Amino acid sequence: MTRIASRVSQLHGEGALAVYARAKELEREGRSIIHLELGEPDFHPAAPVVDAVRNAVAEGRDRYCSTRGVPALREAIADYLKRTRRLDAVAEQVLVAPGCKMALALAMMALIEPGDEVLYPDPGFPIYPSFTRGLGATAVPFRLEEKNQFQPDTHEIARIITPRTSMIIFNSPNNPTGTVFSKAALQKIAELAKKHDLWILSDEVYARILFSGEYESIWSLPGMAERTVIIDGFSKSFAMTGWRLGYAVAPVIDAMDLLVLNTFTCAAEFTQVAAIEALRDSTNSVDAMVAEYRKRRDLFVAGLNRIPGFRCQVPDGAFYAWVSIEDTGLSAEEVQKLLLEEAGVAGIAGAAFGAGGRNYLRFSLVSARNLLDEALERMQRASVHWRAEVSR
Ligand SMILES: Cc1ncc(COP(=O)(O)O)c(C=O)c1O
Repeated sequence: MTRIASRVSQLHGEGALAVYARAKELEREGRSIIHLELGEPDFHPAAPVVDAVRNAVAEGRDRYCSTRGVPALREAIADYLKRTRRLDAVAEQVLVAPGCKMALALAMMALIEPGDEVLYPDPGFPIYPSFTRGLGATAVPFRLEEKNQFQPDTHEIARIITPRTSMIIFNSPNNPTGTVFSKAALQKIAELAKKHDLWILSDEVYARILFSGEYESIWSLPGMAERTVIIDGFSKSFAMTGWRLGYAVAPVIDAMDLLVLNTFTCAAEFTQVAAIEALRDSTNSVDAMVAEYRKRRDLFVAGLNRIPGFRCQVPDGAFYAWVSIEDTGLSAEEVQKLLLEEAGVAGIAGAAFGAGGRNYLRFSLVSARNLLDEALERMQRASVHWRAEVSR
């Protein structure tokens, strides 16, 4: 009897893709849909990056290459992190992978033992608990609650650490809430990590998409570089989702490198060469994108807060609006369905990001401002379905 390994039954999918599939089906039926479900920038990479990949292929940079990533890119990443995040990392600590998710998976495979307990944010990126369970470990949520502006409650984290806890995973700015963890929270998490000898997996995929202040990485806090793995990449900051390019900065590169050798061998060389151009950012495309996301955030969040039954805090980073629908009297799944099927607006019911997302919907700010305006109008009209409940 052929059978599938039991670890696969521990894995979960991503809710966004199911909504996207239904939205596409409606479009095929001739319906107009505004897509705010996927976390995929509507921008494309800057022209010099596209030129660079074309040239790299033409020059024959399409061979197997170093398992850790081409040296020039690893140097460029270390330099970029110094410039943009004041990180004191060196190229020897960098490992390139096909996508942030793969860098995340390598780090988790290298560091998590079956039976370990791994703490993760709820709501948060659904792959953290899914892959933790796939590795035979227990995923233990810590809550990000609206009453705390979605900041972690570090007393709660301290309370749920046990002798089996081996790692705390988080991402700041957070997907889906957009929260940038405060310096105080990072310091407290760092203290706990040192006290209990824990790994920190700091997913910094949205570090550049920050609406105020400078990015603080937990890696930079005293004593943390030796127990922190940073995950970052090109999908979000450089709008290079389909290029599949991410990286880890870690004190355990040798272990991760062995996993690379046993699995995908190397990331494509031509994308790596072009990524050096992306990091150079000669057209200032990152700043331009972030400025546009800021305008979208301001417009959309203000508009959402005018819709009866909706409540949305202003996110400090990333490109999501995380909206409480508690006051509509409907479930998030019902609101998601009404918005998609009747109003033609695709967002995701928050339970896709953990139990803490039960009364929320996530909208991605990945459509142009005129479409966001249109989405707001459509949602305002759809709110007739729950307005009576709100005015009770
Ligand atoms: C928090 C977080 N980490 C990682 C990823 C995956 O990034 P990549 O597409 O580079 O694998 C995403 C994408 O949605 C994300 O939101």
